Amino acid sequence: MPSAVTVDNVLMLFNMSKEKIDSLKEYFIKFTKGKLLYEEFIALKDVTFSVERGDVFGIVGLNGSGKSTLLKIISGILKPSAGSIKVNGTIAPLIELGAGFDLELTARENIYLNGSVLGYSKKYLDGHFDEIVDFSELHEFLDMPMRNYSSGMVARVGFAVATMTQPDILILDEILSVGDFKFQEKCERRIETMMSGGTTVLIVSHSIEQIERMCKHVLWLEKGRVKMIGDVTDVCMAYRGKY
Ligand SMILES: Nc1ncnc2c1ncn2[C@@H]1O[C@H](COP(=O)(O)OP(=O)(O)OP(=O)(O)O)[C@@H](O)[C@H]1O
Ligand SMILES: [Mg+2]
Repeated sequence: MPSAVTVDNVLMLFNMSKEKIDSLKEYFIKFTKGKLLYEEFIALKDVTFSVERGDVFGIVGLNGSGKSTLLKIISGILKPSAGSIKVNGTIAPLIELGAGFDLELTARENIYLNGSVLGYSKKYLDGHFDEIVDFSELHEFLDMPMRNYSSGMVARVGFAVATMTQPDILILDEILSVGDFKFQEKCERRIETMMSGGTTVLIVSHSIEQIERMCKHVLWLEKGRVKMIGDVTDVCMAYRGKY
């Protein structure tokens, strides 16, 4: 059986401005003269691993270690500077809070917008609308612009839309941590149902307890490199021990 996700020797470089530019005007002058100096920042290097189908796979690491960058590459939002990614199946990425939402629009409008971005028809969304709203428990706030939502409320809508149907691969970047404990439990139950239906889950979380509770295998990133990969207990013990 092929792996759900295969990451082979991925390198990700970002351009970082090298000098301090004090004004937009100065930026444009340098930009038009082609005199902007950049330094390449290595966000990921030599990253190789695979995730088996049906696995719940955690990614841990300190702030800036490259976790979100890696998930964006797997989701196809970013293209790696070198290396390759193979993904088998449909993917539902929940990467950044509000990504995929237009916060000026209401939740009702965003459910349709986000759903159509994920490839669902209007008719299909009409049929699932109540279910999405029930899961998010935001009935009273449906017609309020989402910019007035709390981060937990945004996460509720995002999770409800992304998990409305069963994707082959579900990607969660710190999404559950902004939900309250009741919503976290509800999400974890839905994830468990999906797992039993064969969905592969990739989770980034700063809560080691959550990783230990949910994941089977874990990848530890340190400064963009794979520090360790293996069974959840081994990797979490080493990670806790190091810091
Ligand atoms: N578009 C970008 N341009 C330049 N640098 C970037 C860009 N995106 C990410 N980086 C840099 O890449 C590094 C890794 O960022 P990333 O967001 O992947 O970290 P993370 O592990 O998700 O951190 P956190 O735990 O804080 O969410 C950081 O140093 C960040 O500044
Ligand atoms: Mg991140």
